[in-house]
Order: sequence, then C-alpha cells, then structure tokens
Amino acid sequence: MADSPTPPRRPLISGNWKMNLNHLEAIQVVQKLSYRLSSAETDAVEVSMHPPFTSLRTVQTIIGSDDLPLALGAQDCHWEDAGAFTGEVSAPMLAKLDVAYVIVGHSERRQLLGETDEMVRAKLGAVLRHSMTPILCVGETLEERDAGTTLDKVASQLRSALDGVSPEAVRAMVVAYEPIWAIGTGRNATPEDAQEVAAAIRAGVGKAAGQEAANFVRIQYGGSVKGSNAAPLLAQPDIDGALVGGASLDPDDFAAIVAAQAAC
Ligand code: 13P
Repeated sequence: MADSPTPPRRPLISGNWKMNLNHLEAIQVVQKLSYRLSSAETDAVEVSMHPPFTSLRTVQTIIGSDDLPLALGAQDCHWEDAGAFTGEVSAPMLAKLDVAYVIVGHSERRQLLGETDEMVRAKLGAVLRHSMTPILCVGETLEERDAGTTLDKVASQLRSALDGVSPEAVRAMVVAYEPIWAIGTGRNATPEDAQEVAAAIRAGVGKAAGQEAANFVRIQYGGSVKGSNAAPLLAQPDIDGALVGGASLDPDDFAAIVAAQAAC
C-alpha cells in the first residue's frame, strides 16, 4: 500500500458479457440498465459494458443517441493493427467505435485459447497505442492458491504485462484481480483475501512503474460478484471496482452492484 496519501480513484464497475447476448438482446439489457442507474450513482461510479464484438456498434449507437452515462468496452483485441489474421479484431477498429476500455489477458483466453504472457503484453501495447484503457486481468488457479503461490503468480503476470509500459500509461490503466477458481463458480474470495492480493498488485505496480502509478492505478475484483455479495468486496481500500461476468447479464443485479459501489 502506498505511503503517500491515497488519491481519489473513481471506481469502475465493468460488465463482461463474455459470449452472451445477440445485438437485439444487447439493446434491451443496456436500456433496462440505464433506467435502473441514478445520476448520483453514475456520477460516483464509472460503468463500462463489454458486449461481444457483434454488438459493439449497436451498443455504441444507443449510448450515443440516448446520451447514456456508460462507457463502451471490448473483451479482447489482436496485437497487430491489421493483416492476415482471420477472425481477429484490431485495436484501431475498436477505437473507431469509441471503445474506451479493452479487457486484456482474461483467464478464459489464457486457459482455453492458449494466450501467453507475451501475447498479453503485445495486446496491452496495442490498446495503449490506440489511446484506449486496458483492463489487465491477473489471477491464480485453485492449485496455485492451495500451494500458497498466489502472490508470486499475480506478480509475475503483472511484471510481464507491464514490461516496457510507461509509468504515465500504467497510472491510467486498470488491473482486474480475478482468481480463476472464483469465476462462474459462485465462490468468491473473502474480502480480506481479495484485499490482500489487491494490495500486492498495487505494490507490484509500484515496483514496475513507481509510487505515483501505484497510487492512481485502479484495481478491480472479479469472480462471482453479485448484488448480494458486492458491498464488502468493494469496500476494501485497494479495490476500486469490479469486473462482473454472469451478473452483468441481469440489469437488476448489475445495477445493485453499481449501487453497492456508490454507497462505499
Ligand atoms: P463471473 O462474474 O461470472 O464469475 O465472471 C467473472 C469474470 O470472469 C469477469 O471477467
């Protein structure tokens, strides 16, 4: 944890829809969510929505035409700007759609799709080159937690991803701590465990990019966050928001998480 006074960090609640909802369903979810969020909540808390690529343009249009206080996010991107990469989507394509946040290194991509630390670093670089904000995901498996190597694992993912990134860029980015064993399982880390790792991430950012970056970087917790369990997690001093999967598909539940954050 930082020695110097902690600056105010605007919390960020992000909805990662993963591979769910077509573009018509996306319209309904975004509109319902917008009715459920008060202006006091969206003044206090930044909210980003990360639909699949096929719905980005649709969600961008609703946000723009209805002037909604929501940021548009993507779930991934390729590290090259263009080229022969069938099926991939590049950072400049996302930037052109007013995407503000891009999730990088989600554990599902690392585990199921073979994404390496090197690929994650290259993707982070692409997001920054195109003036968007990366949400860098780090987290341990259950085996690593049981073996007591959680902090080593997270530190090494962080070191690798931040290698060569300027302190100014690190300061503005977001790191999501997502213990893999808590994703989609209904189990979440205790608030104390999540705080311990978030504090270690902040210290790791300090080592990689200096104290100023550590003070400002926002750290989210992710893994089975719901309206009913969010408050004590979000109240932790080093946790500045949540990266929400399943509950972000339900506007009522997602709005309850935003409300819990606004009440912190
Ligand atoms: P769940 O909230 O469904 O556990 O997913 C968490 C996650 O992976 C968000 O990126």
